[in-house]
Amino acid sequence: MSKKDQIDTTKLPKHIAIIMDGNGRWAKGFGKFRIFGHYNGVKAVKTTVEAAAEIGIKYLTLYAFSTENWNRPKTEVDDLMELLVDTIKKETPTLQKNNIRLMSIGNTLDLPEKCYLQLQETIDATKSNTGLTMVLALSYSAKWDIVNAIKNIATKVKNGDILVDNITSEMLDNELSTKGVPDPELMIRTSGEQRVSNFLLWELAYSEFYFTDKLWPDFKEEDLYEAILNYQQRERRFGKTSEQLITN
Ligand code: IPE
Ligand code: IPE
Ligand code: MG
Repeated sequence: MSKKDQIDTTKLPKHIAIIMDGNGRWAKGFGKFRIFGHYNGVKAVKTTVEAAAEIGIKYLTLYAFSTENWNRPKTEVDDLMELLVDTIKKETPTLQKNNIRLMSIGNTLDLPEKCYLQLQETIDATKSNTGLTMVLALSYSAKWDIVNAIKNIATKVKNGDILVDNITSEMLDNELSTKGVPDPELMIRTSGEQRVSNFLLWELAYSEFYFTDKLWPDFKEEDLYEAILNYQQRERRFGKTSEQLITN
């Protein structure tokens, strides 16, 4: 029996965020170059996106390339960028067919031009799709995003548009690149690492974390279902007591 059948579809997380980690180690296990892991990582992306869309998840954010990943060897960065353009281009018809909208967060202007243009083209082509929104985090780091948001708010203060005393948490929400996307209820990280690596620091404030030892290229539909089931067993208290949740 598939774990999918045990999922309560009335209690699905609206937004799942994933740190797709372990491609390099997966390739190493086969005695191959790291890029072999990234190629197979793309297959896991396809599987996961399609499974999430099918089950009714509204937002799926995938950490594909961090600000810090620019510090990897140039050959790996170049290979990753090429894989990115090729994949987005090749997968655009599938996104359309599955009614998936593509969005990106991060400093995408830092991507090679070819990559940036393809990304924008697909974002534009899929902007009216109403199914799953797939948010690709590219050249992304939460600290970069938060600093940008603060700069924008500071400019508004300087221009006299808002008063310092009136700055709210919602104002920051609206200056982040995740504007309009609800905070993830569930964050998954593969490969056994238990850290956030500069991912969605603000938005993960009340997310449930799920860690699995599976390396990203081995992540399958059943692993996604397992994570959702695990999430559905958690008691999300938001600072309250268990008793309060029951009486409410
Ligand atoms: C995740 O896999 C993909 C990216 C960060 C681009 P890694 O490349 O980090 O693989 P490991 O962690 O070295 O195994
Ligand atoms: C985080 O993975 C970034 C992505 C998955 C894109 P890393 O492999 O870069 O993270 P660290 O360096 O191990 O924390
Ligand atoms: Mg890694």
